[in-house]
Amino acid sequence: SRTIFSGIQPTGIPHLGNYLGALSNWVKIQNENPQDKHIFSVVGWHALTLPQNPKELGASRRDMLAVLLAIGIDPKKSIIFHQDSNAMHTELAWILSCITPTGRLRRMTSWKTRLAQSRNANSESEVDESLLNAGLLTYPVLQAADILLYQATHVPVGEDQNQHLELCRDIADSFNRTFKGRSRMFPLPTALITPSKRILSLTDPSAKMSKSAPDPSSRILLTDSAKQIAAKVRGAVTDSISTGVSYDPDERPGTSNLLAILSACFGHEDVRLFAETCRGMSHGVLKGEVAGAVEDLIAGPRAEFERLKGDVGYLDQVAREGAEAARELSARTMVQVRERIGLS
Ligand code: TYM
Repeated sequence: SRTIFSGIQPTGIPHLGNYLGALSNWVKIQNENPQDKHIFSVVGWHALTLPQNPKELGASRRDMLAVLLAIGIDPKKSIIFHQDSNAMHTELAWILSCITPTGRLRRMTSWKTRLAQSRNANSESEVDESLLNAGLLTYPVLQAADILLYQATHVPVGEDQNQHLELCRDIADSFNRTFKGRSRMFPLPTALITPSKRILSLTDPSAKMSKSAPDPSSRILLTDSAKQIAAKVRGAVTDSISTGVSYDPDERPGTSNLLAILSACFGHEDVRLFAETCRGMSHGVLKGEVAGAVEDLIAGPRAEFERLKGDVGYLDQVAREGAEAARELSARTMVQVRERIGLS
């Protein structure tokens, strides 16, 4: 049977990209495949690669757990836990980092982006990485450890995580070859990518919707009110073609993004097919439809989140039980890993 693992950073309330690209798929997979093992994690250690205010991080960490419950992750069907409450993640990450070439990590897009940002900030032409923290470079190894610790076979993520998944497979393969045993230690995990694998920024459709973009109107948060949603969608950048709307991500990225969002809200798998039915709409009508559909999609989870947020006792209990279950599973992996590397 399959073991599903995925994670999300506790860096604020998730946006529509997180939800359509990953989180809603977690719930679907959980509900449609009761025979599989499902493990979902709030990855606090990953958040430390960027400076965090400790008070805010603590609140975001608990909020993220509440969000996962609010959207339908069910502790009776899935293990849901905080990565930072299972120290075996860092133990395995260290072991894996010792078989991972630094050159491989320097070729990751996420690292190259950070490097480019720091170069701009220092306005130097020379590439200087000496001030970037080591965690930014080794972050994908920790992610590989998250997945391999549970010997996961499938990982539901958005498109931006594809490269990290490739690296995870290479690390698993490298471990399997270096430390042979009676059977293969780690399965090579497969990425499960949703149809809405890359939701774009509402204000700059050349970039993905992201938590860190400075303009808050570029993203819709799962806690936004109907009014906020409508205002953000109304302000979304489209194009000046006035003969109806069409799905053409290269020529009409903003319009296509709205069609992709609408299609996903209705649960359609094929955006192109769905977009045909919208041909006659003006941009104004399309925006009205999108605002309504997003509100319908998140109204339930939003209310449930507000309710759960106050139930600290329940949240703590879910976190405690999830951590216990996660530690029990990963302990089995670590016994074998320690044996294979000669440190048991
Ligand atoms: P994170 O926290 O940045 O994002 C969580 C999930 O949301 C997806 N996503 C998007 N999907 C579509 N369109 C977008 N605009 C968009 N923005 C984000 C991401 O692909 C992701 O699936 N490194 C990971 C967290 C992680 C993890 C793991 C994931 C740590 N360990 C192990 C899987 C398995 C991250 O930073 O995701």
